[in-house]
Amino acid sequence: MTEVSNETRFLHAIEMGLGAWQWGDRVVWGYGQTHTDKDIRESFDVSLRLGIRFIDTAETYGAGLSERLLGGLLKGTDQPVLVATKFFPWPWRFTKNSIPRALKGSLERLKLEAVDLYQIHWPSPILSPEAMMEGMVECVKRGWTRTVGVSNFGQSRMLRAYSTLAQHGIPLASNQVHYSLLSREVEKNGTLARCKELGIRLIAYSPLEKGLLTGKYFPENPPPGVRGSQYTELLKKISPVIKALQEIGQNHGKTVSQTALNWLICKGAMPIPGAKNIRQAEENAGGAGWHMKEEEVARLDEITDNIREYSRA
Ligand SMILES: NC(=O)c1ccc[n+]([C@@H]2O[C@H](COP(=O)([O-])OP(=O)(O)OC[C@H]3O[C@@H](n4cnc5c(N)ncnc54)[C@H](OP(=O)(O)O)[C@@H]3O)[C@@H](O)[C@H]2O)c1
Repeated sequence: MTEVSNETRFLHAIEMGLGAWQWGDRVVWGYGQTHTDKDIRESFDVSLRLGIRFIDTAETYGAGLSERLLGGLLKGTDQPVLVATKFFPWPWRFTKNSIPRALKGSLERLKLEAVDLYQIHWPSPILSPEAMMEGMVECVKRGWTRTVGVSNFGQSRMLRAYSTLAQHGIPLASNQVHYSLLSREVEKNGTLARCKELGIRLIAYSPLEKGLLTGKYFPENPPPGVRGSQYTELLKKISPVIKALQEIGQNHGKTVSQTALNWLICKGAMPIPGAKNIRQAEENAGGAGWHMKEEEVARLDEITDNIREYSRA
């Protein structure tokens, strides 16, 4: 494994973060219906109290509202919080200059001088990884971000981003990808191993598979909205996984959700579960700070090896 650079060491020290897509997003997550600003404030407060200090947002979440809500919460706390946000490669953003311009907008919404991690949300059909990294270099030079990451990048694009940044003496800090017990492509396609080799922190999004790995959804009780149709087939297959999570969790006094998150930590990834309320945030924080046994990891691997890949986020 490559030595982790000093600039990105802090990311490797974080076991788990908190996802903020739920904050302000009505379409997928029902903001304003299933959870309110009060719930969001309580989730934020309890997470900080329980040692979760890394929050992941994006300019697109709630069309900027997630960043605005987080900015308000940051103003109201004297606790140290690490903030990650993302650049979305809209088709009309066709030059590298759009990257610092977009970050400026994010910083205004977040009411911050700089973020800790700025990520490219998705690869672009228009901007090459090299051009996007040149835009990121400019963000670092202006002091607007401490580190640079990518998201949803496969190995080849990730390596191109890594090499471009390296020419400027900047490490690629992270790759944020879909990774859960029910979505293990990053293990199978070598991305996880390559991240470890190069000292790139792998951040696992949808670590609870959008609620499926909490044990509360099953075929007769699917998740509401768009998630229901996305997961029709998968829901039929997950009962052995939930049963194993329950049994393993019991060995450690942990819940199904906490055990599912811990499996990712044991794999060397940083999960960033989303939470809609204080109860979910409090429970999820208990996914960190312990390790299941190697044979328990192996048992979960074996059970989920047979569940085929089914969808993308
Ligand atoms: N880079 C990307 O392209 C990308 C894509 C997706 C997500 N993300 C990031 O990753 C974060 C997490 O992923 P995600 O939000 O997709 O999915 P997730 O963390 O797997 O699931 C979150 C949802 O599960 C339910 N839940 C969470 N904790 C629970 C608990 N303890 N008990 C019961 N239910 C619980 C809640 O929804 P219900 O209560 O409605 O079931 C919650 O909204 C996002 O917030 C975002 O920051 C990034």
